[in-house]
Amino acid sequence: MKTGMMVLVTGGAGFIGSELVGQLAAAGRRVMVLDNLATGRRENLSGTAATLVEGDVSDRAVLDSILPGVDTVYHLACVSLRRSLREPRVGHDVNATGTLILLEACRAAGVRRYVHVSSSEVYGEAETVPMTEEHRTQPTTAYGASKLAGESYARAFHRTYGFPAVMVRPFNAFGPRCHHEGDSGEVIPKFLLLALAGRPMVIYGDGTQTRDFTHVSDIARGIRLAGKCDEAIGETINLGSGKEISMLGLAEEVARIAGRPRAEVIHEAARPGDVRRMCAGAGVARKLLGFEPSVGLRAGLMGLKEWYE
Ligand SMILES: NC(=O)c1ccc[n+]([C@@H]2O[C@H](COP(=O)([O-])OP(=O)(O)OC[C@H]3O[C@@H](n4cnc5c(N)ncnc54)[C@H](O)[C@@H]3O)[C@@H](O)[C@H]2O)c1
Repeated sequence: MKTGMMVLVTGGAGFIGSELVGQLAAAGRRVMVLDNLATGRRENLSGTAATLVEGDVSDRAVLDSILPGVDTVYHLACVSLRRSLREPRVGHDVNATGTLILLEACRAAGVRRYVHVSSSEVYGEAETVPMTEEHRTQPTTAYGASKLAGESYARAFHRTYGFPAVMVRPFNAFGPRCHHEGDSGEVIPKFLLLALAGRPMVIYGDGTQTRDFTHVSDIARGIRLAGKCDEAIGETINLGSGKEISMLGLAEEVARIAGRPRAEVIHEAARPGDVRRMCAGAGVARKLLGFEPSVGLRAGLMGLKEWYE
């Protein structure tokens, strides 16, 4: 890479994006963030030397004005799963069409590396566990469908034009700056804040559904590594821990961290499109990127508790 060239992080004011921006800046890269602050926050970037461009990833004029001088693009901007449940068209406009507009602009500007941040949601219900990159992609939600469309465009740009795209599929991330409320609220911060307040944790469905949780610092490191590895170009790579835990098991872990004698839970109706199992096949990331998560669930939960305190 040319020294002095800029890195662009779309969605860089968000949960994972801001962690990635911090890591890139710490590694000596000049970082620009494009974010419309829909769910991201300006404060997430305080303390880093990144330049924030407040704008929309679908705005070609903005893209054309900022891409010259950018060598690497990390594309994380997206509309969340829960907002997409309510407004699938909005999710499609950003996650699919927005990605296509960004890809066209990046190709025209001669960007040298493009890392597409997709999601494990593209798989849908697990047919085999762990889910390797070969697993069928049959998303159950409109969000997953829109993420698959965006990812497919990135892959097609690589195959058709030789565009230097890498597709990564993070599984569930948790850690500082995660969302605990609104459309983007995630299970771990919600559980932890409820348990710390002495209130019951809310489980949708029977709680036997599993997820693969990876600390945000590890997910961001995996995304960053994908932008530096030439062998990763054209590849699709899961980013996860390879370990699954049920929501009931998670509630017990969280209760322990919160100092509660036992996990108090209440059950509400299962959410539409919620899949039963999620667990990453982590072999490709290990082989191509040398990626191994370094923060375990318990240590990550302790760290998040301290962060909230
Ligand atoms: N959080 C997870 O567990 C997880 C798991 C798998 C994949 N991902 C993917 O990682 C990426 C980041 O997710 P996150 O959890 O940090 O979410 P987030 O909501 O915190 O971040 C998304 C960011 O994109 C910005 N944004 C939304 N629409 C935009 C637009 N039209 N133009 C410019 N910016 C826009 C938001 O303001 C926000 O800062 C997403 O692509 C998501 O699909 C996240």
